[in-house]
Amino acid sequence: MEGNVEVLISREKVEARISELAREIEKDYANKDLICVGLLKGSVMFMSDLIKEISMDLRIDFMKVSSYGGGTNSTGVVKILKDVDLDLTGKDVLIVEDIIDTGLTIVNVKDFLKQKNPNSIKVCTLLDKPSRRLVEVEGEYVGFEIPDEFVVGYGLDLDEKYRNIPFVGKFVKK
Ligand code: IMP
Ligand code: MG
Repeated sequence: MEGNVEVLISREKVEARISELAREIEKDYANKDLICVGLLKGSVMFMSDLIKEISMDLRIDFMKVSSYGGGTNSTGVVKILKDVDLDLTGKDVLIVEDIIDTGLTIVNVKDFLKQKNPNSIKVCTLLDKPSRRLVEVEGEYVGFEIPDEFVVGYGLDLDEKYRNIPFVGKFVKK
């Protein structure tokens, strides 16, 4: 299985960076009412590693959204397949995502969650492909910026496979 995947960011590097992000988050959210909202399914491995490193009270929840259809520069086109369960009113929401690519998912999820009147909303993403953006959006916490290449592993999939690979890899056809 892993024979088709070349290491782009090793497990050790990912884990070290996750610890750094956790330290930043702890500092920024001291005395806040943190809810980490993971986007299914890609964020699962990152979210699980991240929250283990955050030494403070927090809550977790999950959302699932469908990917946008064919439209390119249109927003408001993701479908909410699973909403959060918790009440976000007055809470400090940190959206946890695997990768920001065009930015459409994050922009739409942020707009959707804003309607729930949280105190704040920020984004923590393991990976960022800034060169692919169609809408202007940034993550406040970014693990790694990567070039415009398709990556798998650490939660990211190709046709639902490779999510369990414990590093970020580049898919190579053999
Ligand atoms: P965006 O809405 O274009 O920012 O896309 C975000 C979603 O696209 C992510 O949550 C991923 O599920 C998926 N995605 C984008 N780039 C990649 C990649 O290189 N590998 C795997 N999934 C990706
Ligand atoms: Mg995905």
